[in-house]
Amino acid sequence: MTNRNLTKIKFSSGIQIPVELHKVRVVQKLYLNPIERRLQAIEEGGYNTFQISTKDVFLDMLTDSGTNAMSDNQVSSMLHADDAYAGSQSFYRMEASVRDVFGKHYVMPVHQGRAAENIISQIFVKKGDVIPMNYHFTTTKAHMELNGGTVLEIYTGKALQIKSAEPFKGNIDLEKLQQVIAEYGKEHVAFVRMEASTNLIGGQPFSMANLREVSRIAKESGIMVVMDASLVGENAYFIKKREAGYENTSIKDILKEMCSYCDIVYFSSRKVTSSRGGGIVTDNKDFYLKMRDLLVLNEGFTTYGGMSVREIEAMAVGMQETTDDTVISQSPSFIEYIVNQLDEYGIPVITPPGALGCHIDSMGFLPHVPQQEYPAGALAAAVYIVSGCRGMERGTISSVRDENGNDVLADMELLRLAFPRRVFTLSQTMFLIDRLKWLYENRELVGGLKFVEEPPVLRFFMGRLAPTSDWPQKLAEKFRADFGDSL
Ligand code: F0G
Repeated sequence: MTNRNLTKIKFSSGIQIPVELHKVRVVQKLYLNPIERRLQAIEEGGYNTFQISTKDVFLDMLTDSGTNAMSDNQVSSMLHADDAYAGSQSFYRMEASVRDVFGKHYVMPVHQGRAAENIISQIFVKKGDVIPMNYHFTTTKAHMELNGGTVLEIYTGKALQIKSAEPFKGNIDLEKLQQVIAEYGKEHVAFVRMEASTNLIGGQPFSMANLREVSRIAKESGIMVVMDASLVGENAYFIKKREAGYENTSIKDILKEMCSYCDIVYFSSRKVTSSRGGGIVTDNKDFYLKMRDLLVLNEGFTTYGGMSVREIEAMAVGMQETTDDTVISQSPSFIEYIVNQLDEYGIPVITPPGALGCHIDSMGFLPHVPQQEYPAGALAAAVYIVSGCRGMERGTISSVRDENGNDVLADMELLRLAFPRRVFTLSQTMFLIDRLKWLYENRELVGGLKFVEEPPVLRFFMGRLAPTSDWPQKLAEKFRADFGDSL
């Protein structure tokens, strides 16, 4: 018998549902407000789900960042945190845990993932450099460009297909990688970046075979490989589930092998360990010493790096828990459930199901909304209005204008509905599926959005938009007609 389906539970009736392999011991009240209030809240928030207060949110599916449920062991570890500016025991516990899981000697804590990107970009990206990668992440790209680098996305042909059976859409195109090195010259390639469970294209993993080859090609030219490990546990989970030869390998051994192909591994601990903060690890002493200078300048002393000691304790425990099949499988199995249900209803979702969340193809959902009117932002607003659930736009609003001030239309217009680890139940997921089905049946009522206030940097966070017509009111009217005074 293989281990591959360790966390799958079979039912005699043949029904296929994920089961929560934990019990709920601390709970928090949620607010499912009437649709009139939801209309008001989205209007007040400038049709930007980042601008809604959690008092107006039912299921908060904006992100998994800092919102995964902590375990009892994580919370209790926070009580024995050792407050010290230098030499805190909390740091040494965390260092040992991270070394154990990632297999790298030097461990630097930072206040969150983008702080790691800032340090790595400042040290290793020079003006005129290129950084080939499987796909960019918003904060990553911003830091690399600030330092004069150019991001080159060299994904495979299947990466951006909405519906696909390709198990590893996060793979780098190896031929393109070789071409990039030949074309730009190895001295202009800052490093190759591999993002585990590629966030912006639907949480899609890369295979071990691909990472191994990327590492081999890079090493041949003396180029280093940097892995963004913010969703590395899930990527390891998919390798175990989908890659031949890994069905009996533990998540921990898979993680170690992945890290062994990389010179630097960095992560947002807000995602990878259910705690807060982030980190950078390497075995290379020279790299460590270079990065350490910026660490103490920007983040804090080497034994806290901008994190509280309590968070460091939770990170130490969370790092181990990430290697536990029952912990790491929870979010992907719920995502698989919702994706399969939506797919059955004909709703365009990214397949195969990935990590982090369920990703809806907004251009397929709202084909009548031109991309210039931000269909993913419009769909995020519409889903909020009809369900009180908030997701995140991952499309053109999340990209930046070109030097002439024109919108750069994103490759994909996705609405991401995040499933933080062990936070939502199956009945809540079923509620969301029901509302999405209704919205899809009434999709012609949804219109577009336009910017009314647009910050120049990372505009998706603070920008304010307005609907291009009175479609939100019309949508709410239809909701009332069909649902009466139901929430
Ligand atoms: N890299 C990846 C792949 C990420 O997903 C994130 C954050 C970061 C880096 C930056 O880390 O937020 O700790 O500074 N992703 C969050 C999200 C924000 O919602 O997907 P951070």
